[in-house]
Amino acid sequence: MNNGSGRRHAGALGVPGSGVAERRRAGRAGAMVDYRIREYRDEDYEAVREMFATGMSEYVPALCVHVLKQPWVILVLACTFCVLLTSSKSLLLPILAVTLLLAMGRQLLGYFWTMYIEHCLKEDLLDIRTTYMGSKGSCFWVAEADECVVGTVAARPSDHQKGELMLKRMSVRKDYRGLGIAKALCQAVICFAQQRGCSAVVLNTLMVQDEARLMYERVGFEKYRDDVLPTVYGRLANVTISKYRYGVPQRS
Ligand SMILES: CC(C)(COP(=O)(O)OP(=O)(O)OC[C@H]1O[C@@H](n2cnc3c(N)ncnc32)[C@H](O)[C@@H]1OP(=O)(O)O)[C@@H](O)C(=O)NCCC(=O)NCCS
Repeated sequence: MNNGSGRRHAGALGVPGSGVAERRRAGRAGAMVDYRIREYRDEDYEAVREMFATGMSEYVPALCVHVLKQPWVILVLACTFCVLLTSSKSLLLPILAVTLLLAMGRQLLGYFWTMYIEHCLKEDLLDIRTTYMGSKGSCFWVAEADECVVGTVAARPSDHQKGELMLKRMSVRKDYRGLGIAKALCQAVICFAQQRGCSAVVLNTLMVQDEARLMYERVGFEKYRDDVLPTVYGRLANVTISKYRYGVPQRS
């Protein structure tokens, strides 16, 4: 639905009291798929962790391209090429050296990204039931289709602002994308926030997560801040975290 500002609101769209919403949607390829959004169960554990790890690993190529565009990286590669070209008077050596540097950079980025994924798997995704299903203010949902878990999302109180809910762990299996599953998962979180009287749903995305940013904006989230990741690697690679917010319409 549309509010006065032209923003798309999904707030009243519902996951009924049972915690389950059923949808039938035609994908971008036109095929009909039945799916339902339901609360997490213990038997989903492996599928949820696998989906998170797979969804996040997709971003390694985009991260590589982003790092390659940084001026200091271009400068290092160009200087290496020029110095080796003038000193060896051959094209082969500088080309080999730059190729080697690119391959090493790719490996290094892949390594750090895998470490980040493993860190998340050892953090809130290690004991999903305790982290998300143990208190009234948090929840974890999955999208189920063809008797498989094909999407995930979580919500827990924001560490920074009282009364705000943090959306986390959004992921949809590649072969089930474009069906509106992520939008439905967002709506489950918004509905949960509304039921608990939260003022907003907030989330973080990385600058390389283009599909996610488009999806959140489509649902009605608005970007309110960009921060560079406050680590040495974050600054070196200019990794920007975009913070999004969705003002939850209060029930009258
Ligand atoms: C981001 C992601 C969750 C989207 O899942 P999805 O189920 O395909 O998204 P939806 O079908 O609900 O799409 C919702 C809207 O997002 C936008 N969108 C999603 N994917 C898009 C794409 N590849 N290109 C353009 N727009 C896209 C569209 O506006 C779409 O609305 P529309 O179909 O009405 O035009 C999925 O791509 C994913 O799991 N990516 C990897 C993990 C990830 O990035 N998680 C987010 C962490 S912050």
